[in-house]
Amino acid sequence: MCVWVVEGVIMKKKIVVAITGASGSIYASLLLKKLTQLQDQIAEVGVVMSDNAKDVWKFELGNEEYSRFPFKFYAKNDFMAPFASGSAKFDTMIIVPCSMGTLGRIAGGISDDLITRAADVILKERRKLVLVARDTPLNLIHIRNMATVTEAGGIICPAIPSYYSKPQTIEELAMTVVNRVIDLIGLESKSYEWKGI
Ligand SMILES: Cc1cc2nc3c(=O)[nH]c(=O)nc-3n(C[C@H](O)[C@H](O)[C@H](O)COP(=O)(O)O)c2cc1C
Repeated sequence: MCVWVVEGVIMKKKIVVAITGASGSIYASLLLKKLTQLQDQIAEVGVVMSDNAKDVWKFELGNEEYSRFPFKFYAKNDFMAPFASGSAKFDTMIIVPCSMGTLGRIAGGISDDLITRAADVILKERRKLVLVARDTPLNLIHIRNMATVTEAGGIICPAIPSYYSKPQTIEELAMTVVNRVIDLIGLESKSYEWKGI
């Protein structure tokens, strides 16, 4: 089990998952499922979705099953949510998938909803922000925004699957991205790892 131990006290992770309206709701769905399985390493998961995220999820996955996950969901304009402030000490935030609009607002410091405010907080507190950014092709504005967020300490983890594990289904393919995220945020989970040939 991968948890921090500070002065004899086990510190489990407090994680924010934000879902925005880029294509790739499957990544969000699989990540929430995976976090459900790893709850022994997690103290709390708060979830916030943009309006477009709900529309894209329904369009791409054909359901509204985000509500079935055993985590607390917050409205996107709920600035009273704990992770809208640094004092709640959420240590990790994942935006999955992350639209170019949300990326741009974070890069510009425009904290006008709970997603962008929480990302702003994570960056100012020097904690871990992972953006599973999705669009193609990228224009110069996207690339500059990615550079800005990277310079501020965020991690751009593009929604680009890998093929060396020979995935057989769309789920297995999407899991290659989700497993990378799980690894980046320091949770322990058994998954395929490239070890060279
Ligand atoms: C089906 C669908 C797929 C989309 N895919 C993307 C995408 O891959 N990347 C992106 O940046 N925007 C995408 N968009 C557009 C975003 O939803 C739109 O820019 C929105 O304003 C993003 O808002 P949000 O960041 O608050 O969710 C898509 C929209 C739809 C309806």
